[in-house]
Amino acid sequence: MDTINPAALNAGWTPGSWRNCPIKQVPSYPDPDRLAAMEARLTRFPPLVFAGEARNLKSHLARAAKGEAFVLQGGDCAESFGDFTANIIRDTFRVLLQMAVVLTYGGALPVVKLGRMAGQFAKPRSSDTETMGGVTLPSYRGDIINGPEFSPAARIPDASRMEFGYFQSAGTLNLLRAFASGGYADLHEVHRWNLDFVKSSPLAERYQDLSARIDETLRFMAACGLDSATTPQIRETDFYTSHEALLLPYEQALTRVDSTTGDYYACSAHFLWIGDRTRQAEGAHVEFMRGIRNPIGMKVGPSMEVDDLLRIMDSLDPENEPGRLTLIARMGAGKVADKLPPLLRAVKRAGRAPVWLCDAMHGNGITTAAKIKTRRFDDIVTELRGFFDAHEAEGTVAGGAHLEMTGRNVTECVGGARGLSEDDLGAAYETFCDPRLNAEQSLEVAFYLAEELKARRAKRAAA
Ligand code: PEP
Ligand code: CO
Repeated sequence: MDTINPAALNAGWTPGSWRNCPIKQVPSYPDPDRLAAMEARLTRFPPLVFAGEARNLKSHLARAAKGEAFVLQGGDCAESFGDFTANIIRDTFRVLLQMAVVLTYGGALPVVKLGRMAGQFAKPRSSDTETMGGVTLPSYRGDIINGPEFSPAARIPDASRMEFGYFQSAGTLNLLRAFASGGYADLHEVHRWNLDFVKSSPLAERYQDLSARIDETLRFMAACGLDSATTPQIRETDFYTSHEALLLPYEQALTRVDSTTGDYYACSAHFLWIGDRTRQAEGAHVEFMRGIRNPIGMKVGPSMEVDDLLRIMDSLDPENEPGRLTLIARMGAGKVADKLPPLLRAVKRAGRAPVWLCDAMHGNGITTAAKIKTRRFDDIVTELRGFFDAHEAEGTVAGGAHLEMTGRNVTECVGGARGLSEDDLGAAYETFCDPRLNAEQSLEVAFYLAEELKARRAKRAAA
C-alpha cells in the first residue's frame, strides 16, 4: 500500500465518502453482491493512466486558463461496446489532430487535445424510464451500465459491463498512445490528410490560403533542420483522455494513491468531468471529485446560479490551483449572451481563473418534425461566437471548445458547408445518444475557431 498524504483526506474525504451523500442518476443494480464483487475485482486491476500524465495535463490546462494554449475536447456522446474497432478510434483521433493543426496555426497557440474517448460510456438521462408502444422499461444509461436494445433483459443494469468497459478503455487507450507516439500523428501526415480531405469538399477554397501557409512553414522549418527525424514535437503529439465521472462505483474502484505524492488520482482517464445533472454542491458527484487530484471539469448549464457556482468551486478547488478546474459552459445559442457574462464576471471577481470551455452541443438539441434528435451547425457556431464575445466583454479567457463529433461520415447534425438537411439525416444516423458533428463539419468548426482566434488576437494586438 502506498503511503497516503494526510492532506489527501481533506475534510473527511475518502474515495468512498460520496456514498454518504445524496446521489442522482444512479442505476439500480438488482444484485448488490455482484456489484460489490465487481468493484473489488476492478480495484485490483492496473490503473489506465499514470498520475504524472494527469499532472502534465494540469500544467497544460493552467496555460490555457491564461490564454497561452487552446483546449480542444471532443469525441462521441457515448462510446459503444458494439462499435469497438480500430477504424472508429483512428477516424476520431485523426479528425481531432486535423482540427488541432488548423487551430494551432490560426490561433498561434499550442492546442491541448482531450478526447471524449477510452471511457465515455455512462450517460445521464432526463427520465428514469422509457415508454414505447405502451411498454415502460428502465432508460438506457450507456453501455457500461445496461444495453440500448428495448427489451427488459437488456435494460437491467449489469455490473459485469464495468469489466468490459475497463478493457475497452484499455484497448482504446493503447491504440491512441500508439498513434500519438508511433509516427501516425506526424505533423506532415496530418497536414496531408487535411489537403486530401478538403480537396473534394466545399471547404476547399477556405482552406487553400491556410494550407499554403502551413506548407511554407513546414518547408521553412525543414530548411532549419526541424523535421520529423530531428524533432519529436513534429513526429509525436500529446493526447489525453476524458469522460463524464457518472458511474461512481467504477470511478472509485479505479482511484489509486500515487506513489510519488501520496495523493489520490482517478486512474480511469486523465480528466474527468461532472455533468450538468449531477453538479449539486452537496451531492455525491461533487464529493467524489473534490478529493481526486486530476484536472477536473464541470458542466455549467443555463440553470447555474452565481452563488452555487462559487460554492462548488470552493469545494472542488479550495486552493485555486492553476489548471485544476475547467468550467464547460453549455448554455445554448439563444442563452449564451444572457447567461454566461454574469458567471464570468463573478468568477473573475472571486479571484479565480478556471479554464472556460464552450460545449456548443448540449444546449442546442432540437427534435425534427419526424422526431429525430439533431443539432443545427449554425446554432453551434452561434454559441461559440457568443462565448468568445462574452469573454472579450468581461476580459476573461476563452480557453477552448468541447464538441460531440466523430471522424465518420455520419448525418446527425444539420447544416454546414454541404448543407445537410433534415431529409438527409436518415442516410447515416449512427449515434447511440446525441447527434455528432461529422468529420467535415468538425473541420469546418475548426476553421471557424481558427479565424476567430486569429481575429481576436489581431484585435488585442492593435488595442
Ligand atoms: C454530455 O456531455 O454528454 C452531457 C450529457 O452533457 P451535459 O451534462 O452538459 O448535459
Ligand atoms: Co451528449
